[in-house]
Amino acid sequence: GSVVGAALVFPTKQLASAFSDDPPGVPPFSVPLSIPPVLKPTRSTADADFYDMRIAETELEVLPGIRTKTLTFNGSFPGPTLRARRGRAVVVRQFNGLSGPATVHLHGADVPASSDGHPMDPIAPGQSREYRYPNDQRAATLWYHDHTHHFEGERVYRGLSGAYLLSDPVDELLPLPTGEFDVPLMLRDAKFDSKGQLVFVPDDFLNRPTVLVNGRPQPYFEVKRKLYRLRLINGSNLEMFKFRLSTGAPFLQIASDGGFLRVPAVRQEIDVWPAERAEVLVDFRSVPPGTAIALQNVAALSENKRDILQFRVGDGGSWAKPEIAIPSWSGGGRVPLVRGQVPGWPANNALRGRVTRTRRFVLRLDLAKGQFVINDQGFDPDRVDATIEHGSTEIWEIVNDDAALGIQHTLHLHLVQFRVLDRNGKPEPAHDSYPKDTVRLFPGDVVRIQATFDSHLGRYPFHCHFLDHATHSMMGQFEVVPKR
Ligand code: C2O
Ligand code: CU
Repeated sequence: GSVVGAALVFPTKQLASAFSDDPPGVPPFSVPLSIPPVLKPTRSTADADFYDMRIAETELEVLPGIRTKTLTFNGSFPGPTLRARRGRAVVVRQFNGLSGPATVHLHGADVPASSDGHPMDPIAPGQSREYRYPNDQRAATLWYHDHTHHFEGERVYRGLSGAYLLSDPVDELLPLPTGEFDVPLMLRDAKFDSKGQLVFVPDDFLNRPTVLVNGRPQPYFEVKRKLYRLRLINGSNLEMFKFRLSTGAPFLQIASDGGFLRVPAVRQEIDVWPAERAEVLVDFRSVPPGTAIALQNVAALSENKRDILQFRVGDGGSWAKPEIAIPSWSGGGRVPLVRGQVPGWPANNALRGRVTRTRRFVLRLDLAKGQFVINDQGFDPDRVDATIEHGSTEIWEIVNDDAALGIQHTLHLHLVQFRVLDRNGKPEPAHDSYPKDTVRLFPGDVVRIQATFDSHLGRYPFHCHFLDHATHSMMGQFEVVPKR
């Protein structure tokens, strides 16, 4: 279908600034941040935790004093947080309380195809099914979301996403903030009508003027004078964040999509595009009480989307594990986490299996068809675009062929974490290289990624994670087959 509007080819500031403030009547930093509840298992065995979730339409307060129709997991917008530990399986029984099919995908996870939430493998309305997650991978900030064929864009937009935080012994060994100082921040853009209801127009990225953090508009967050671990998750369909702190102080980025960086990186600004994650440490220990610091999106196309979260620094005493210093905050540097490597991080050769095959995928908007296509084709569930022998390592060359239209894309592969080798012939910086499951593609970019397909067999999607593009067919499939 040609629901792709012409609006998407005009990413100009002038156009964006013509749109009015939204949502009407909510002053910046007037509502408190909320933290989605951590879901409790319904039962546990020696090696697995079992959860029940229910997908349903729910009316709840997103904007102060207004009931908004949303879609939720267990009545929470965004969904509840799951906490998992490497080596313990998680089994989630999802009940579909919607009137149409639904699927749930655990983004970034290495799972059997039967639990992947493939768009063509839905839960019928009124039915439930169990997804089984082995959690046999490194600690990482993962997230789950709906993936229903042709509806993932709208479903996720209306609320069907949540955080899934996987820990492991390395995570627990590192002197990182825990408990209330370990905070998932799910960020996404939205458009509300004058009655406070969510408006979904496919691909209408210029006209989604509100940013929600954990489901609240431009909230404030009362923090203590402590070190915080913030897990930035971009749950937007289309919004491309470039985060910075209003004080100009840096973040210490410790993890990317699939887990810890080998060496943490001091970052002034961090790009987090749809579906990407960045874990950062932010240090409020020496900030005077009463200070307000904004988390900003310097890539915002309009003024009212620039400041997205305000930290209000209170008091708080001393941090129990003072061995972490962020060099440019405190002048320190005697820090294993900063100076050294993450223990247990795979040696370089583990990431450089012998490459047996190179493939090329070209992403572009086909204006004639009104479709986003990969190698000139829209998604066809009966077609396999890459048949991969189990255990092999491949390089995929990904091309964003939309330089003329100025359209960005991303590429996300299910099942694997990959390494971004280079971008337009230049090596990708380490903090954007590994471990990744989603890669940014600026207009005209040629990016090479390398992945090893040595876990599960079966058919998995790969797609642009601008979900409005994926929904309009920028998706293919690879199939991992037994080694001959
Ligand atoms: Cu975030 Cu196909 O997924
Ligand atoms: Cu795209």
